[in-house]
Amino acid sequence: MPLPKAELHLHVEGTLEPDLAFELAARNGVALPYADTEDLRTAYRFEDLQSFLNLYYELMAVLRTERDFEDLANAYLARAAAQGVRHAEIFFDPQAHLARGVAMGTVVEGLWRALGRSEENHGVSTQLILCFLRDESAESALATLRAAEPYLDRISGVGLDSAEVGHPPAKFREVYEAAAALGLRRVAHAGEEGPPEYITEALDVLGVERIDHGLRCMEDPALVERLVRERIPLTLCPLSNVRLRTVDTLADHPLPAMLDAGLLCTVNSDDPAYFGGYAGDNFDAVRGTLGLTGERLRELARNSFVASFLEHDEERRRR
Ligand code: HPA
Ligand code: ZN
Repeated sequence: MPLPKAELHLHVEGTLEPDLAFELAARNGVALPYADTEDLRTAYRFEDLQSFLNLYYELMAVLRTERDFEDLANAYLARAAAQGVRHAEIFFDPQAHLARGVAMGTVVEGLWRALGRSEENHGVSTQLILCFLRDESAESALATLRAAEPYLDRISGVGLDSAEVGHPPAKFREVYEAAAALGLRRVAHAGEEGPPEYITEALDVLGVERIDHGLRCMEDPALVERLVRERIPLTLCPLSNVRLRTVDTLADHPLPAMLDAGLLCTVNSDDPAYFGGYAGDNFDAVRGTLGLTGERLRELARNSFVASFLEHDEERRRR
């Protein structure tokens, strides 16, 4: 029996497995510049975040209809459930779809066809987090939030992803203020490739409750102390860090040192179709290679629920 866990850092577009990409390409008459799944797999060798993002955005071309988004989410939920995931807070990137002429309603309603039935079909409760692409403008982010307003009953929060360096959190102050005014929860990727200062800025300027990745906090002891004191959760993604070369090898991953420092760490899969594993695979990897004991693994699983938005639902309704 895999450990019951919550997944808090998962891009639904990053769950697009090669088989499904080809199936959807055929269904929608979209030509992919790869001969077959084997040929596509040879493209899964990344130098850094940007080299991954190039493929991630390219393959999204196959996602066109509500049914495509439903099939994508159902495939993820089935895999996650098999690996012990009981709750998933799922990122999506609407700007990447709007730019291709796919409407916000198609994306959200399509995902909801799977998410709305996930508890009965997969035994997994879900929430949706709309991410802004930080390499797009602040105006575009604000327009995206406005386009999402008719669907806010299906969206729990906002996040910030895509190319980090050169796009500091403060660029999105206004849109995060607007999101807070709408009652949305706030998270942001920070300190994946970007410097520790981006983590501080995400907390102080954007008012985020969780930091996605946050790995580079370890370069700043005063920041680590603050994150520990304020119990700010970090959603770490060990296999992603290896594939995107944020760490040299899994054995070099700072997760054990981060837990020893008292940080509220969680283990997640990020883009499992691209990085070699789902949530349970990430747990297996840190157990095997980093030698984390049963007690540490249970701590990580417990943290995932503590850091989730589940326990705050009641509080949110009262606000
Ligand atoms: N980092 C930033 N943006 C992303 C990622 C990531 O790991 N995955 C999908 N978009
Ligand atoms: Zn991510």
